[in-house]
Amino acid sequence: HAADAHRTDLMTVTRYVLNEQSRHPEARGDFTILLSHIVLGCKFVCTAVNKAGLAKLIGLAGETNVQGEEQKKLDVLSNEVFVKALVSSGRTCILVSEEDEEATFVDPRLRGKYCVVFDPLDGSSNIDCGVSIGTIFGVYMVDKDLDKISLDDVLQPGKNMLAAGYCMYGSSCTLVISTGNGVNGFTLDPSLGEFILTHPDIKIPKKGKIYSVNEGNAKNWDGPTAKYVEKCKFPTDGSSPKSLRYIGSMVADVHRTLLYGGIFLYPADKKSPNGKLRVLYEVFPMSFLMEQAGGQAFTGKERALDLIPTKIHQRSPIFLGSYDEVEEIKALYAAEQ
Ligand code: AHG
Ligand code: MN
Ligand code: MN
Ligand code: MN
Repeated sequence: HAADAHRTDLMTVTRYVLNEQSRHPEARGDFTILLSHIVLGCKFVCTAVNKAGLAKLIGLAGETNVQGEEQKKLDVLSNEVFVKALVSSGRTCILVSEEDEEATFVDPRLRGKYCVVFDPLDGSSNIDCGVSIGTIFGVYMVDKDLDKISLDDVLQPGKNMLAAGYCMYGSSCTLVISTGNGVNGFTLDPSLGEFILTHPDIKIPKKGKIYSVNEGNAKNWDGPTAKYVEKCKFPTDGSSPKSLRYIGSMVADVHRTLLYGGIFLYPADKKSPNGKLRVLYEVFPMSFLMEQAGGQAFTGKERALDLIPTKIHQRSPIFLGSYDEVEEIKALYAAEQ
């Protein structure tokens, strides 16, 4: 009967979060309500992404965002969907989105105690060619009078996050999330409109045979990064070389790393001394997930989650993935000190 129970005992993401909530007796369901609005946003973006080719959502929206990037219609649409869903949840006070230059301070009448940082559409340069893209989010809590909040309340180190996750819009729609008690993966069943638990308690392999980096930046890498990549290609301990897999969508590259093991790196280079990926809504959520899955995340200087951001779109180099692989990179940077 176990198999039957499995088939009829549907563990949806909502039920999972309710179970998690029961671990916090003081909780009054606010987080569950917040999460249900994030899930709603993901479902909407999933349908919009799937229809994009047909609905002519492809192509440039004609504007550029604060990152100086061409905004494609899906970027703009996804951002509006998430901002509206989060504000209407009545559980948020500050929102930081890759697509908005300034943080959004929610109308005081609709404020709640959570701050949400998010990348509404990650990997947007891949939209037109149908490569997997995603949404990345992180959740902080503000424990103060909501009329006295300021930007500092969202500039918290990643270790303070209560939850983080991503939704990948690929061959299926997969939501991977942690509320601080391990990592679980859910797949959208379009006929039910529900995310069903498909990857319980994800743990990243301790070592991996894949490295994931944009080799096109190799000319500008610093010493330790160049040495590490050299070791991946020409191992000196007689082991076989690693495979290179680089999709160019962080969500897809991180999802593969989480499930198969290996290392994902977006290092600093001479042109961008802080790398490219944004701390609040790309580096922190993915680092949080990696640690919760038994992996590590390192900036080249420190544990990624210890970094204290000073600007909402601040960037940082990032090396994340299998525990032992990140250890190797930490040793190379330590040797350089
Ligand atoms: P976004 O589309 O949200 O701006 O993020 C793009 C990021 C990330 O998804 C990916 O890892 C990285 O850009 C790829 O950068 P390169 O093309 O420089 O390798
Ligand atoms: Mn972008
Ligand atoms: Mn991104
Ligand atoms: Mn983006």
